[in-house]
Amino acid sequence: MHLPNYVDARRRENNDYKRVEFKFDDKIRNKYLGKTYFLKTYGCQMNEHDSENIDALLIELGFSKVDDYEDADLVLLNTCSIRENAHNKAFGMLGRLKHLKEKKHNLIIGLCGCMAQEASVVEDILNKYKYVNFVFGTHNLYQLPQILDSAISSLRQEIEVFSKEGDLVEGLPVVRANSYKAYVNIIYGCNKFCTYCIVPYTRGKERSRAKEDILKEVDELINSGYKEITLLGQNVNAYGKDLYSDYNLGNLLEDIAKKDIPRIRFMTSHPWDFTDEMVSVIGKYKNIMPSVHLPVQSGSNRILKLMGRRYTKESYLELFNKIKSSVPNVAISTDIIVGFPGETENDFLETLDLAQKCKYDNAFTFIFSPREGTPACKLKDDVTITEKEERLQRLNEIVNKYFLFNNKKLEGKVVSVLVEGLSEKNDMYFGYTDTNKLINFTVNRDVKIGDIVDVRVTSAKTWSLDGELVG
Ligand code: SAH
Ligand code: SF4
Ligand code: F3S
Repeated sequence: MHLPNYVDARRRENNDYKRVEFKFDDKIRNKYLGKTYFLKTYGCQMNEHDSENIDALLIELGFSKVDDYEDADLVLLNTCSIRENAHNKAFGMLGRLKHLKEKKHNLIIGLCGCMAQEASVVEDILNKYKYVNFVFGTHNLYQLPQILDSAISSLRQEIEVFSKEGDLVEGLPVVRANSYKAYVNIIYGCNKFCTYCIVPYTRGKERSRAKEDILKEVDELINSGYKEITLLGQNVNAYGKDLYSDYNLGNLLEDIAKKDIPRIRFMTSHPWDFTDEMVSVIGKYKNIMPSVHLPVQSGSNRILKLMGRRYTKESYLELFNKIKSSVPNVAISTDIIVGFPGETENDFLETLDLAQKCKYDNAFTFIFSPREGTPACKLKDDVTITEKEERLQRLNEIVNKYFLFNNKKLEGKVVSVLVEGLSEKNDMYFGYTDTNKLINFTVNRDVKIGDIVDVRVTSAKTWSLDGELVG
């Protein structure tokens, strides 16, 4: 048994991690043929992509996937710790699984992902959720086959969570959720330690994948007909810093852009690591999508400092304007937190002012959620929850207004769309524009999922566009 702890999780030592090639243990391949599993994924794209690896590992063990947890022999929750809400959802699901297990004694229950890296969660599982059979963390996902196999054979609770990053494992099997768009990890972990955020503790230090491994994965995706790849990391703009002295996200984007792939996306970008070279590469290549997610969190310099964000409202706006002027038709989206401990009405007005200046194309807005073990959790907080909710509402009214304002500007224009599917009523197709806006559109000829087509925007709504296929 290995339990997580925050002392190790906080360390950022200069230990070199080895690159190792994953190998599936042949002794347990197909051992569970005939058994079924249900996998529930919470949280960000990082977790979604991890779940694509988990799917592949479980399938190699012989399991087959079901869509209803009540039909499954194994239920695995890939969890998220970012806000209390995410926690509550996973614990709520564990409650439902307890009832199911009372009727179905052989049910195997597992938990992984970011919550597994939290000492207090694992302690609860040891003491109060004894019916959970196994837990593994974000650093040892590749050990899932062994951990699960030993939990099933030993009938003991298996808890294997490491708070120190292990080797950088390449060659994990993957079952991709789509056949036309794919995620590619480029950097794991985060070194920023924003004072409110739990991610540096649950995902460990920044570790970049070797460029050769990334480029090889991209080549394989191109050869399999993929149209869009999204480069993933908690902060993709820090790519390469730990590995190279002269190769960064700009260079990587450029190397990928020269390949025959129609759409390249990347997320998330911390403003601190955004260099002028990166901005100019994004503007230079047509296949790098004009869409940048640039979380600002707050418009108040005092709060930004307390958050440890390392930029000011003024330097953020400078970068924002540089991206706007260098990348034609770029759409910029953001994340904003309201109700950080001690946020005053004036601090909040600074955030509203920034939202008005930036007129974001999209924004994810949150109420601050204290995360155990983070510095902000210990700050005195005299802002009431009612005030916080009211601020969130006022902010949402403003950002929503600009979503519509930006979408309206597209009415009558022709946009490029990657077709993703048929709408629920089967009368329209839907897809995403190069600027990452959802569009529903009618067609007058056959189109296929995965095609990139031209669509004329006929009307704009706050969260989506309507359109008609051109030509
Ligand atoms: N690595 C990304 C963000 C990952 S988390 C970045 O830095 O841009 C996604 C968003 O969740 C953050 O941008 C932040 O707005 C929000 N978030 C993180 N911790 C939070 C907390 N404790 N309470 C409320 N929102 C939080
Ligand atoms: Fe969290 Fe900040 Fe790292 Fe983003 S950059 S994951 S908000 S610590
Ligand atoms: Fe959540 Fe972990 Fe992602 S905390 S947002 S799943 S990195």
